[in-house]
Amino acid sequence: MNISLSPCFNLSGIISMNGDKSISHRALMFGAIAQSVTHITNLSTSEDVSSTERCLKQLGIKIVRQEGVTMVHGVGLRGFQRPLRPLDAGNSGTTMRLLTGLLVGQDFDAILTGDESLRKRPMKRILEPLSRMGASIKATTGNFAPLNIHGSPIFSTTYTMPIASAQVKSCLLMAALYARGVTTIHENAATRNHTELMLADFNVKIDVEAHRISIKGDQQLLANDIAVPGDVSSASFFLAAALLTPNSTVTIRNVGLNPTRLGFIRVLQKMGAQIVINPVISNQQEPFGDITVRTSPLRSITLTAETIPSLIDELPIFAIIASQAKGVTTVTGAKELRFKESDRLRAISHNLKQMGVEINELDDGFIIYGIQQLKGAHIDSYHDHRIAMAFSVAALIASGVTTIHDAECISISMPEFFQVMDSIIQNSNYYTTIV
Ligand code: S3P
Repeated sequence: MNISLSPCFNLSGIISMNGDKSISHRALMFGAIAQSVTHITNLSTSEDVSSTERCLKQLGIKIVRQEGVTMVHGVGLRGFQRPLRPLDAGNSGTTMRLLTGLLVGQDFDAILTGDESLRKRPMKRILEPLSRMGASIKATTGNFAPLNIHGSPIFSTTYTMPIASAQVKSCLLMAALYARGVTTIHENAATRNHTELMLADFNVKIDVEAHRISIKGDQQLLANDIAVPGDVSSASFFLAAALLTPNSTVTIRNVGLNPTRLGFIRVLQKMGAQIVINPVISNQQEPFGDITVRTSPLRSITLTAETIPSLIDELPIFAIIASQAKGVTTVTGAKELRFKESDRLRAISHNLKQMGVEINELDDGFIIYGIQQLKGAHIDSYHDHRIAMAFSVAALIASGVTTIHDAECISISMPEFFQVMDSIIQNSNYYTTIV
């Protein structure tokens, strides 16, 4: 499906995001291996989270949705049933990597596969440390799904992660639940800590100190009620839209405010963005609150490796913002973007050039020269939801019409994207669908 988008000015209103995707995956998985029933409110509507739900159902987990609450009937650490067919993680790296951590220590074999994009994403990063823990997994050329997992006894380990990845960290923490003894993981840079926070919520004792996490195996998880905050990564597209579109003020309610996810907002504030955060006082582990943003003039910035994990998913939309910031913006230390749902450095650079922007693609980042007028263009989404949404925001301020090709991939994280955007656009017919 292709979507044609026209420029707009004046966005205003109060909106909410669907449930955070990262937190939703974890809530389903921990609910599945806990004792008794976990109630989840505001579970993400994304296709990625549906992939996790589908895989867990194949493993024998009863998951029921009723009046906005998702009930997960936990079966304990060792209650999964052997899946009769391969488990399909679809487009979701989080589903594949975290579920692998849960499956290595079972007493059955399982196959985990995914769509064409996921089957091209690197898995060695989890296979190598998992094999040190005793896991037995066969992968295509030692790196790619399908993963043939042979359930086996798991042993604790001490591991320093060579790349900053919350998916790798979480996969190892999942496996560590099945290990005898204490597993310790060292991170070289802080990544999102939803797994650590939620394990504590499920009554697991976990020690977190600076960049070191230790967890003892064989602890029982106790079911919990989880209220998932709005997805701050989905919110980034609306923050950007309001910042860049003239005469705009938008408030996003009940968004996750976990500090490990707020790099994008901190960077925008340094660039001059008017963003006000109102946290809600609650006793939940995951902080949340309202964010209000106004159209603001922006100046350029330099981002290096330490900042990248805190805004890794926001870099496509950040590149659009950089084209509207005065001066030269440089991003380095972001090679991980080449291993996401698409090669995002390639996709950003190709599509910004299509819109007439001067950009230098680096091996591990990009240099963008602002401020440049964007021109309506044909955009290749590379079947990547965040590329499609980033350039849908670019279309708001481009001259002429922008067409996003294969825009249906947006449902991977936010099926409601265009409805929400339409609800704050005051002055035009933003989109037309061309099938
Ligand atoms: C995620 C971690 C990040 C992020 C992804 C979700 C998670 O991936 O890009 O969208 O839920 O743990 P990496 O940990 O591989 O960087």
